[in-house]
Amino acid sequence: MDERSDLRAAVRTIPDYPRPGILFRDITTLLGDARAFRRAVDELVQPWPGSKIDKVAGIEARGFILGGAVAHQLASGFVPIRKKGKLPHETVTIAYSLEYGIDEMEMHRDAIAPGERVILVDDLIATGGTATAAVELLRKMGAEVVAAVFVIDLPDLGGARRLRDMGVTVRTLMS
Ligand code: PRP
Ligand code: ADE
Repeated sequence: MDERSDLRAAVRTIPDYPRPGILFRDITTLLGDARAFRRAVDELVQPWPGSKIDKVAGIEARGFILGGAVAHQLASGFVPIRKKGKLPHETVTIAYSLEYGIDEMEMHRDAIAPGERVILVDDLIATGGTATAAVELLRKMGAEVVAAVFVIDLPDLGGARRLRDMGVTVRTLMS
Protein backbone atom coordinates (compact mmCIF):
# COMPACT_ATOMS: atom_id res chain seq x y z
CA MET A 1 0.00 0.00 0.00
CA ASP A 2 1.45 3.46 -0.81
CA GLU A 3 1.50 6.17 1.83
CA ARG A 4 -1.51 8.08 0.49
CA SER A 5 -3.54 4.82 0.59
CA ASP A 6 -2.30 4.40 4.16
CA LEU A 7 -3.70 7.83 4.98
CA ARG A 8 -7.01 7.03 3.32
CA ALA A 9 -7.24 3.73 5.21
CA ALA A 10 -6.66 5.60 8.48
CA VAL A 11 -9.90 7.60 8.10
CA ARG A 12 -13.03 5.89 9.48
CA THR A 13 -16.47 6.37 7.93
CA ILE A 14 -19.56 6.47 10.14
CA PRO A 15 -22.91 6.30 8.32
CA ASP A 16 -25.84 8.47 9.50
CA TYR A 17 -23.80 10.69 11.87
CA PRO A 18 -24.68 13.28 13.10
CA ARG A 19 -27.86 13.10 10.99
CA PRO A 20 -29.44 10.39 8.81
CA GLY A 21 -27.92 10.45 5.32
CA ILE A 22 -24.55 11.98 6.36
CA LEU A 23 -21.46 9.79 5.79
CA PHE A 24 -19.23 11.15 8.53
CA ARG A 25 -15.49 11.01 7.79
CA ASP A 26 -13.89 10.49 11.20
CA ILE A 27 -10.20 11.51 11.45
CA THR A 28 -9.75 10.43 15.09
CA THR A 29 -8.46 7.09 13.80
CA LEU A 30 -5.88 8.91 11.65
CA LEU A 31 -4.85 11.10 14.59
CA GLY A 32 -4.44 8.01 16.77
CA ASP A 33 -2.08 6.40 14.27
CA ALA A 34 1.38 7.92 14.87
CA ARG A 35 2.68 7.32 11.32
CA ALA A 36 -0.49 8.53 9.63
CA PHE A 37 -0.72 11.66 11.79
CA ARG A 38 2.89 12.63 11.10
CA ARG A 39 2.52 11.82 7.42
CA ALA A 40 -0.66 13.93 7.12
CA VAL A 41 0.98 16.97 8.76
CA ASP A 42 4.15 16.59 6.63
CA GLU A 43 2.06 16.33 3.45
CA LEU A 44 -0.14 19.32 4.33
CA VAL A 45 2.87 21.66 4.57
CA GLN A 46 4.97 20.05 1.83
CA PRO A 47 4.69 22.97 -0.69
CA TRP A 48 5.89 25.59 1.82
CA PRO A 49 9.27 24.44 3.13
CA GLY A 50 11.20 27.38 4.53
CA SER A 51 8.71 29.98 3.23
CA LYS A 52 7.67 32.61 5.72
CA ILE A 53 4.21 31.85 7.03
CA ASP A 54 3.37 34.21 9.88
CA LYS A 55 0.28 32.46 11.20
CA VAL A 56 -1.60 29.20 10.84
CA ALA A 57 -5.34 29.65 11.41
CA GLY A 58 -7.15 26.52 12.59
CA ILE A 59 -10.91 26.06 12.52
CA GLU A 60 -12.61 24.65 15.64
CA ALA A 61 -12.53 21.88 16.52
CA ARG A 62 -10.67 19.40 14.36
CA GLY A 63 -8.68 22.15 12.64
CA PHE A 64 -7.11 22.96 16.03
CA ILE A 65 -5.45 19.54 16.29
CA LEU A 66 -3.99 19.59 12.79
CA GLY A 67 -3.36 23.35 12.80
CA GLY A 68 -1.27 23.26 15.98
CA ALA A 69 0.96 20.57 14.48
CA VAL A 70 1.18 22.44 11.15
CA ALA A 71 2.12 25.69 12.95
CA HIS A 72 4.88 23.88 14.83
CA GLN A 73 6.18 22.40 11.58
CA LEU A 74 6.24 25.82 9.85
CA ALA A 75 7.55 27.66 12.94
CA SER A 76 4.46 29.91 12.71
CA GLY A 77 2.06 31.33 15.26
CA PHE A 78 -1.35 29.70 15.67
CA VAL A 79 -4.69 31.53 15.54
CA PRO A 80 -7.90 29.80 16.62
CA ILE A 81 -11.08 30.46 14.64
CA ARG A 82 -13.80 29.48 17.10
CA LYS A 83 -17.52 28.93 17.35
CA LYS A 84 -19.27 32.07 18.65
CA GLY A 85 -18.91 32.99 22.33
CA LYS A 86 -15.71 31.08 23.14
CA LEU A 87 -13.05 33.78 22.78
CA PRO A 88 -12.45 36.16 25.72
CA HIS A 89 -11.17 39.31 23.96
CA GLU A 90 -12.70 41.58 21.28
CA THR A 91 -13.72 39.52 18.25
CA VAL A 92 -14.78 39.74 14.60
CA THR A 93 -17.69 37.43 13.73
CA ILE A 94 -19.13 35.88 10.57
CA ALA A 95 -22.18 33.62 9.98
CA TYR A 96 -21.83 30.53 7.77
CA SER A 97 -23.82 27.50 6.66
CA LEU A 98 -22.83 23.84 7.11
CA GLU A 99 -23.71 20.57 5.38
CA TYR A 100 -25.92 20.02 8.42
CA GLY A 101 -26.82 23.43 9.92
CA ILE A 102 -25.92 27.09 10.41
CA ASP A 103 -23.38 28.57 12.81
CA GLU A 104 -21.24 31.62 13.55
CA MET A 105 -17.46 31.72 13.94
CA GLU A 106 -15.12 34.36 15.24
CA MET A 107 -11.52 35.26 15.86
CA HIS A 108 -9.79 37.83 18.03
CA ARG A 109 -9.67 41.21 16.31
CA ASP A 110 -5.94 41.59 17.11
CA ALA A 111 -4.93 38.01 16.20
CA ILE A 112 -3.55 38.92 12.78
CA ALA A 113 -1.72 42.05 11.64
CA PRO A 114 -2.47 43.45 8.16
CA GLY A 115 -0.27 41.83 5.51
CA GLU A 116 0.55 38.72 7.54
CA ARG A 117 0.84 35.53 5.51
CA VAL A 118 -1.62 32.92 6.74
CA ILE A 119 -2.36 29.27 6.00
CA LEU A 120 -5.85 28.07 6.94
CA VAL A 121 -6.14 24.49 8.24
CA ASP A 122 -9.11 22.19 8.75
CA ASP A 123 -9.64 18.44 8.64
CA LEU A 124 -12.23 18.44 5.86
CA ILE A 125 -13.89 20.61 3.26
CA ALA A 126 -17.47 19.77 2.26
CA THR A 127 -19.73 22.62 1.07
CA GLY A 128 -16.96 25.09 1.87
CA GLY A 129 -19.33 27.18 4.00
CA THR A 130 -16.95 27.02 6.94
CA ALA A 131 -13.70 27.61 5.03
CA THR A 132 -15.01 30.38 2.76
CA ALA A 133 -16.31 32.24 5.83
CA ALA A 134 -12.93 31.75 7.55
CA VAL A 135 -11.13 33.17 4.48
CA GLU A 136 -13.51 36.16 4.47
CA LEU A 137 -12.79 36.75 8.15
CA LEU A 138 -9.00 36.48 7.63
CA ARG A 139 -9.07 38.81 4.63
CA LYS A 140 -11.23 41.29 6.56
CA MET A 141 -8.39 41.44 9.08
CA GLY A 142 -5.91 42.17 6.27
CA ALA A 143 -4.36 38.69 6.10
CA GLU A 144 -2.80 37.36 2.92
CA VAL A 145 -4.32 33.88 2.71
CA VAL A 146 -1.46 31.89 1.17
CA ALA A 147 -3.40 28.61 1.08
CA ALA A 148 -6.14 26.55 2.69
CA VAL A 149 -5.20 22.94 3.48
CA PHE A 150 -7.41 19.99 4.40
CA VAL A 151 -6.87 16.28 4.88
CA ILE A 152 -10.18 15.40 3.18
CA ASP A 153 -12.09 16.93 0.26
CA LEU A 154 -15.69 15.94 -0.45
CA PRO A 155 -15.59 17.14 -4.08
CA ASP A 156 -19.27 16.50 -4.84
CA LEU A 157 -20.15 19.26 -2.35
CA GLY A 158 -18.05 21.83 -4.24
CA GLY A 159 -16.25 23.53 -1.33
CA ALA A 160 -12.73 23.37 -2.77
CA ARG A 161 -14.03 24.84 -6.03
CA ARG A 162 -15.71 27.70 -4.14
CA LEU A 163 -12.45 28.47 -2.36
CA ARG A 164 -10.45 28.39 -5.61
CA ASP A 165 -13.05 30.74 -7.15
CA MET A 166 -12.15 33.17 -4.33
CA GLY A 167 -8.51 33.01 -5.48
CA VAL A 168 -7.36 30.69 -2.69
CA THR A 169 -4.73 27.97 -3.28
CA VAL A 170 -6.27 24.74 -1.96
CA ARG A 171 -4.37 21.61 -0.94
CA THR A 172 -6.16 18.39 0.03
CA LEU A 173 -4.70 14.93 0.69
CA MET A 174 -7.61 12.72 -0.37
CA SER A 175 -11.08 12.88 -1.92
C1 PRP B 1 -16.78 20.12 10.10
C2 PRP B 1 -15.37 20.08 9.56
C3 PRP B 1 -15.27 21.40 8.87
C4 PRP B 1 -16.67 21.64 8.34
C5 PRP B 1 -16.72 21.34 6.87
O1 PRP B 1 -16.79 20.82 11.30
O2 PRP B 1 -14.41 19.90 10.58
O3 PRP B 1 -14.91 22.45 9.78
O4 PRP B 1 -17.53 20.75 9.06
O5 PRP B 1 -18.01 21.54 6.34
P1 PRP B 1 -18.36 22.61 5.22
O6 PRP B 1 -17.24 22.58 4.20
O7 PRP B 1 -19.67 22.12 4.65
O8 PRP B 1 -18.49 23.93 5.87
P2 PRP B 1 -18.10 20.98 12.21
O9 PRP B 1 -18.81 22.22 11.83
O10 PRP B 1 -18.86 19.70 12.16
O11 PRP B 1 -17.50 21.26 13.64
P3 PRP B 1 -16.58 20.40 14.67
O12 PRP B 1 -15.19 20.30 14.05
O13 PRP B 1 -16.57 21.28 15.87
O14 PRP B 1 -17.22 19.07 14.87
N1 ADE C 1 -18.20 18.14 8.02
C1 ADE C 1 -19.11 18.38 7.05
N2 ADE C 1 -19.44 17.25 6.43
C2 ADE C 1 -18.72 16.26 7.04
C3 ADE C 1 -18.61 14.86 6.83
N3 ADE C 1 -19.33 14.25 5.89
N4 ADE C 1 -17.77 14.16 7.62
C4 ADE C 1 -17.04 14.78 8.58
N5 ADE C 1 -17.12 16.11 8.83
C5 ADE C 1 -17.94 16.83 8.05
